[in-house]
Amino acid sequence: MITQRGIILCTNMYFFPQSITTSDPNKDLQALSLIAAHSHISGLGLDDNLQPREASQGMVGQLTARKAAGVILKMIQAGKIAGRAVLIAGPPSTGKTAIATGMAQSLGPDVPFTALAASEIFSLELSKTEALTQAFRRSIGIKIKEETELIEGEVVEIQIDRSITGGHKQGKLTIRTTDMETIYELGNKMIDGLQKEKVLAGDIISIDKASGKITKLGRSYTRARDYDAMGPNTKFVQCPEGELQKRKEVVHTVSLHEIDVINSRSQGFLALFSGDTGEIRPEVRDQINTKVAEWREEGKAEISPGVLFIDEVHMLDIECFAFINRALEDEFSPIVIMATNRGISKTRGTSYMSPHGLPADLLDRSIIIRTEPYSEEEVGQILSIRAQEEEVELDAGALALLTKIGAETSLRYAANLISVANQIAVKKRSSVVTTDCIKKAYVLFLDSGRSVQFLDEFSDQYINDDGKVKISTEVAGNVDAMDVGV
Ligand SMILES: Nc1ncnc2c1ncn2[C@@H]1O[C@H](COP(=O)(O)OP(=O)(O)O)[C@@H](O)[C@H]1O
Ligand SMILES: [Mg+2]
Repeated sequence: MITQRGIILCTNMYFFPQSITTSDPNKDLQALSLIAAHSHISGLGLDDNLQPREASQGMVGQLTARKAAGVILKMIQAGKIAGRAVLIAGPPSTGKTAIATGMAQSLGPDVPFTALAASEIFSLELSKTEALTQAFRRSIGIKIKEETELIEGEVVEIQIDRSITGGHKQGKLTIRTTDMETIYELGNKMIDGLQKEKVLAGDIISIDKASGKITKLGRSYTRARDYDAMGPNTKFVQCPEGELQKRKEVVHTVSLHEIDVINSRSQGFLALFSGDTGEIRPEVRDQINTKVAEWREEGKAEISPGVLFIDEVHMLDIECFAFINRALEDEFSPIVIMATNRGISKTRGTSYMSPHGLPADLLDRSIIIRTEPYSEEEVGQILSIRAQEEEVELDAGALALLTKIGAETSLRYAANLISVANQIAVKKRSSVVTTDCIKKAYVLFLDSGRSVQFLDEFSDQYINDDGKVKISTEVAGNVDAMDVGV
């Protein structure tokens, strides 16, 4: 089942747009919510010597943590380390997730990055350990080298005969290099492929012999005079020399998880699209591990350990932590980056307290990056970047007020007010958000501090833990407390 062929089957899927690369955060359902909040971030904003620039690539301040993240990044890119754990710890909205996002952006397409919010482990239809195993294996890239046979040349003529009934098609393709010319018989599938790619005489094409996949490389220079008929986007290339048939080495990166899914008999590669992979049998994984190790010895494959990012890691319980501890020692292990905003707190599933809510043994293995609260100036810069990202224009007063709000309440609350204030401005038919709009937004929507204050004052109007609520005496007559049966 797991032959080199099997892999070809899966790597061919690459020809579909971004079908199975694990580094594309858009494909991961779990990453969706992270993207919008961090879409202004395009990297860690470091220079070549790993020195953080004050504001670059959407990142502001948090210099020490960014530099530390940069060091880790360099180690990952060098492919030298695996099986390490990094913990990013700091108060809420100090840029922990932002830093992880910045790292992901800088990794490049061949290093897988998997983002996971810890609570997802409990919400999938999988056991906790299966979900974690899949997340780990998604984060390990296998670079597979394989030779493919190609036919590459300039199309001289395509001749297609349709039978009168329409069903069966037959044809001939004449194709040449500068040195030779050959005629190939065409079947239905090839004819469809040529038509789909809109291949014409004068195109330089390449046909993968194993899959029949046709790729248009461009127009032949000899046809350059037809330029007017081609449009401005036509790419001109030389007619190939030598043999029509060539061998080429291609390198594909797939994740271990993808190989698992493709080879688990019950699922098949279609599961990669539906995301509905179910549990994968341990025997399948064992077989794959053995095979990959073999390929590696034979020089056919290279392992590239990627990154598994577990956000809000304190949501995991002691069983998950034990699993991670063991998985980090595995032969194929990614770098695990965790983020938490907890101080000394209880580890889920136990009754004891520990720093960051992580058990001591895992903490012991981890190197810790600390994030710190932002200065008012930094808050202002981040908010101004966010406004640009949301295409909202703030006037100077509005930005100053928003910055003050951000510094006194929270960065997230202030960032949320940007779009709300913009709506208020739009309603007033103004294209610029003014101080007034920010004030209105501030009154309309409470931050958590004011909400708590409000709750303290009016706690008896809300349903309490016992399901009791006090209804105002005017409405409910002399009923003082009513049981709403929660
Ligand atoms: N240093 C920074 N530079 C730019 N934007 C930042 C920075 N730190 C945080 N942000 C932005 O502020 C918001 C909250 O940060 P986030 O990373 O989600 O906080 P945390 O994960 O620490 O709770 C996000 O929109 C994030 O992109
Ligand atoms: Mg976060």
